[in-house]
Amino acid sequence: MSEASEAPIQPEEHAEGTAVAVGSGSGDEASLTEVPSALPVLPLKNTVLFPFLLSPLLVNSERSKRLIDAVLLTPHRLLVCVATRHPVEGSPRPDDVYRVGTVMRIAKMLKFPDESYRLLVQGVARARIRDFESEAPFLRARIETLGEEGDLDSVETTALMRNVAQQFASLVAESPRLSDELQLLAGGVDEPSKLADLAGSNLDFDVAGKQSLLEELHVPTRLKLVLEGIAREREAMKVESEIREKVQSDIGKTQRDYMLRQQLEAIRQELGEGDDQESDVEKLRQRISAAGMPEEAEKQASRELDRLEQMPPAAAEHAVIRTYLDWMLDLPWSKLTEDRLDIVEARRILDEDHYGLDKVKERIIEYISVLSLKRDLKGPILCFVGPPGTGKTSLGRSIARALGRQFQRISLGGVHDEAEIRGHRRTYVGALPGRIVQALRRAGTRNPVFMLDEVDKVGADFRGDPSSALLEVLDPEQNHAFSDHYLEVTFDLSQVLFIATANQMDPVPAALRDRMEVIELPGYIEEEKVEIARRFLLPRQREQNGIADIEFELPDDSLRMLIRSYTREAGVRNLEREIGAVCRKVARRVAEGGVEGPVKIGPGELAELLGPVRFEPEVAERTGLPGVAVGLAWTPAGGDILFVESSGMPGRGELKLTGSLGDVMRESAEAARSWLRSRAEDLGLDPGSFEKGDLHVHVPSGAVPKDGPSAGVAMVTSLASLLTGRQALSSVAMTGEITLRGKVLPVGGIKEKILAAKRAGIERVVLPERNRRDVEEVAPELLEGLSLEYVGTIDDALQHTLAPAS
Ligand SMILES: Nc1ncnc2c1ncn2[C@@H]1O[C@H](COP(=O)(O)OP(=O)(O)OP(=O)(O)O)[C@@H](O)[C@H]1O
Ligand SMILES: [Mg+2]
Repeated sequence: MSEASEAPIQPEEHAEGTAVAVGSGSGDEASLTEVPSALPVLPLKNTVLFPFLLSPLLVNSERSKRLIDAVLLTPHRLLVCVATRHPVEGSPRPDDVYRVGTVMRIAKMLKFPDESYRLLVQGVARARIRDFESEAPFLRARIETLGEEGDLDSVETTALMRNVAQQFASLVAESPRLSDELQLLAGGVDEPSKLADLAGSNLDFDVAGKQSLLEELHVPTRLKLVLEGIAREREAMKVESEIREKVQSDIGKTQRDYMLRQQLEAIRQELGEGDDQESDVEKLRQRISAAGMPEEAEKQASRELDRLEQMPPAAAEHAVIRTYLDWMLDLPWSKLTEDRLDIVEARRILDEDHYGLDKVKERIIEYISVLSLKRDLKGPILCFVGPPGTGKTSLGRSIARALGRQFQRISLGGVHDEAEIRGHRRTYVGALPGRIVQALRRAGTRNPVFMLDEVDKVGADFRGDPSSALLEVLDPEQNHAFSDHYLEVTFDLSQVLFIATANQMDPVPAALRDRMEVIELPGYIEEEKVEIARRFLLPRQREQNGIADIEFELPDDSLRMLIRSYTREAGVRNLEREIGAVCRKVARRVAEGGVEGPVKIGPGELAELLGPVRFEPEVAERTGLPGVAVGLAWTPAGGDILFVESSGMPGRGELKLTGSLGDVMRESAEAARSWLRSRAEDLGLDPGSFEKGDLHVHVPSGAVPKDGPSAGVAMVTSLASLLTGRQALSSVAMTGEITLRGKVLPVGGIKEKILAAKRAGIERVVLPERNRRDVEEVAPELLEGLSLEYVGTIDDALQHTLAPAS
């Protein structure tokens, strides 16, 4: 027909907006009856319109406008709106649209300047298309209106209705998509069908979904469909909002972290430390990879560095980790020094540092020889044992020098706590590694010489036994993986050469003693001391006191005087101190300008510099009377002489003992008296005198505790001298344990005692027969000028110790 009829019919756009229920009185039975049996059909794209509701419509295709024009000319202004079944290209044909639609009345129409029509249409009734009458100029069909099915007044329907009303109200409240007015509207609807349509049309259904709502004539079923739809939508909204919240909180946290970091950065910049931290961490990372750590340690260090990086520099933990990393990085994980295994050179160095000590040096050379052949340190650990000042520590230093190794002294004196060896766990405030690791850091190499000084002074108490940690350190099977509590990783100590020192072996735990080869340094005799003083101590003290360049002489006579009258020791430490004192006085004289030409300090001038002599040769003087005998004692400070004095007085036969005597020494005194009493007749004593008089035995130097059985011979000599009136010989010193049957038993510390006797100017020493073997081990030069008498019984001993009866 007209040109317009060939124009394609576009499915109409549903204008933005929501379907709105019209007031009551509209869409009622009255209008239903007026519906003609044939009406124009307007296909709608994506839109299903419901009866009873007021909907806006936008129409802009020529064909649809033609349709609207035609409808407006009719008195009832009715048309049928149907949704297209699927997207349509071009004009929808009868097959493209659903068979069920809605009869609508045009309530209002506005023509816009752009030629489009805006309509407000009101739903009147559901309708089924029976057949199409024509397709041009617009679709037109014969229709039948559809009524409602189901029992509208049943309890079920009422309940469903109430439910829909509630649920829909909630949905409207929750959904940002739906206007709150719908709540009011829904509240005012009392017909189940209308409520279902109002709610259903506002649900988020697709076209097919809405269409099935439209086609459902059974009202309770339609209400159920609506209810399901509401439930689905609410559920979907819940999930949606959960996701949104999560996303939002994720974003929130990242955002917050970012902001904080930015602020932190700004603060750092402000403090001028912004880049330091960065480069500091970077530097540490480079140092870690350069440190040559074993894998385990490197991992641990990197892990700690990662933690450090995460931490603000102001955190307390930051400093703790930083300190830890410094320790880890300062350790000589892979630094080694090359050993010098030249025996000749080693001997030269040992001789250069120490006078004498030939046996000790021999043993050290053997040790180095084995090392040069075997190249491992699994042999026993050398332990230097001897009185103070005999050169134990300085020998260790000398060994390190001979081998070309670093030397570190680890003092164990007074160590009570395992943590001193092994360190404290980092959880302790101010925790530090133990002494072993500290010494490693100082040494700076993995193969130093460690001198474990004073192993005899390690004490065990409630804080754990340090010697068990020491055992691990010294055990070649274990020390390749020594673990320090602070480091938390193991360190290989197997390349460390350990040397120990002790003043005495008795207090050293047996397990530790087993690991060690004891090398004794018993002390020096006068001649040796003079040599040591002349060659080593004097030059060193001159140097230290700034008089190395002054012409100064301290002749041997003076040295001897220093040794005899100003010191009384096995070693040379006090001697060195006295020489130092002399050097200082000389230095002062020089500084005061009172010196011209060479200085020579003779024996006579010593008293002037150092004051009166400190040790008189007291033996002769004190043994002038009967009842005084000279014993020999062994102490950790070397051997010494001691006097045993006895006196008698009227009384009831009691024995009094004084001078801080220990139990064993007291028993020696009792044994001595009992033996004398049992032998009274043979000795020409009056047996009754023991009951009529008290005896008092005193050992002077009362403040010094004394114990041990070795003074037995001296006790019996002293008492015998008192009771017989025969003098004990002042040039004779004695040692030995006694039994009640009159036997003399061997004692310890023979070397030290012999040295002490020589120092005291004794000429003859009375010793137990069974100590002869010990004496054979003493260097012959030490025995020069001494005569030794071996005795097996008290009778023999008294032969040598008492002056002949006058
Ligand atoms: N034979 C010696 N030749 C040279 N100097 C020596 C000799 N013996 C000891 N000395 C010197 O005596 C001083 C004291 O020695 P050192 O410190 O080694 O004693 P020590 O045996 O370790 O004593 P302590 O048991 O008290 O630790 C050192 O200066 C040392 O050089
Ligand atoms: Mg020492």
